[in-house]
Amino acid sequence: MPAITNIEDLRQLYERRVPRMFYDYAETGSWTEQTFRENTTDFRDIYLRQRVAVDMAGRSTKSTMAGQEVAMPVGLAPVGLTGMQHADGEIKAARAAEKFGVPFTLSTLSICSIEDVAENTEKPFWFQVYTLRDEAFMKRLFERAAAAKCSALVITVDLQVMGQRHKDIKNGLSAPPKLTPKSVANMMTKVRWGLGMLGTKRREFRNVVGHAEGVSDPGSLARWTAEAFDPSLDWEKIRQFRRMWDGPVIIKGIMDARDAREALNVGADAIVVSNHGGRQLDGALSAIRALPSIMDAVGDKIEVHLDGGIRSGQDVLKAVAMGAKGTYIGRAFTYGLGAMGEAGVTKALEIIHKELDTSMALCGRTDVTGLDEDILLVPEDFEGRWKS
Ligand code: GLV
Repeated sequence: MPAITNIEDLRQLYERRVPRMFYDYAETGSWTEQTFRENTTDFRDIYLRQRVAVDMAGRSTKSTMAGQEVAMPVGLAPVGLTGMQHADGEIKAARAAEKFGVPFTLSTLSICSIEDVAENTEKPFWFQVYTLRDEAFMKRLFERAAAAKCSALVITVDLQVMGQRHKDIKNGLSAPPKLTPKSVANMMTKVRWGLGMLGTKRREFRNVVGHAEGVSDPGSLARWTAEAFDPSLDWEKIRQFRRMWDGPVIIKGIMDARDAREALNVGADAIVVSNHGGRQLDGALSAIRALPSIMDAVGDKIEVHLDGGIRSGQDVLKAVAMGAKGTYIGRAFTYGLGAMGEAGVTKALEIIHKELDTSMALCGRTDVTGLDEDILLVPEDFEGRWKS
C-alpha cells in the first residue's frame, strides 16, 4: 500500500473499504450539494502570507476549547452512524482522540451508546444533543451524559427537520443495513468491514433504540428525525437545556449574527459556526465565509468555533487566524476510521497536526494561540456584498 500522506489518501481508502451506503451517507450534502462543496472550496480563496527568517524553534499548537486543554484546536465533530463506518467506530474514534489530546464528540445518533463509549475510554468526552419530543427521554439523556462524566454538551440547533440527501433515499440507508440484493452484493466486497461488524453487537442506534419510543422504523435516521425530533425547538427550550447541564454548553449550527447573539443570551459557553457540513440548508454560505460576520457580532464575548470543510491543517490555520478558537473535523476523521479503524483516526489527526504546525511556522508564527489575520490574505469581498 502506498504511503498515506494526506486526508484525500484516507478518503480513497475509505471509499474502497466501506459499503457504499455508509460512504455515501458521509460524503454527501443536501439537495444540489452546493454548500457541501463550497465549505471546502471557499478555503482556497484565502491565501497564507509567507514570512521568513523567523526563529521557528519551540512551536506550540496547544490551546483550549470550551475551557479544556487541547493538543491542537481541532475536535472530532459529532457524526451520526459512526459505528457503521467501522465496527465500534465511536469507541475507536474516542480512543484515538483521547490519546491525541483532542475532544471527541459523541452524536445522539451514534451506534455505540454514551455508556459504551464511557466504559471503553479513560478521559471524558463531549456529548451532542438532538432534541426529541419525548421529554422523559431528554431528561434521561442529560442524566446519562452526566453519569458518563461528559465534560461538555454540544446542542445542535439546525436539525429539527432534515435536509434531503438524495443518495440516502436511493440507497435505503439504515442501521443495521437492510439486506437487499444490491446492498448484499456491495457488502460482500467489503470483507474487512463485514468481519468487524460480525464481531460486534453494536449495530443499531444504541442511544435511542430501547430508550425512546414513537418511531416506526428504528433503523432509519430519516424516520427518527421526521417522527421523533422536536420541530418546536426554540431559544426558550435551549435556555432550559442550558439550565439542565452544569458544565460547558456549546451551541452548534450558527450561521447568522442574530442567532449568535441569541446563543450568547441563553448562556452558551461557545458557539459553532456550522451549516451541518452542507447537509441541511443547501444554498447557505460556507462556514468559513460566514465566520467574519459572526466574529464581528460576538467574537469578543464568546468563544467561536467552526466546522465544515476542514480537510487540512492549512484550513485549521486559516479558521483560527480569522478568530475561531476551535475547529472540528467530521468527514476527515470518518475517512480515517473507515479506512483503518482507530489507527486511521490517529493518522488523520497526525496529518492535520503536521500540516498545521509546519504551515504556521512558514507563516513565521510559533504559537497557535497568538495567530491573527496578519498571516492571511483574505479577499476584500470574501464575505460577499449582498443587497439584503
Ligand atoms: C445527522 O446529523 C446527519 O447530518 O446525518
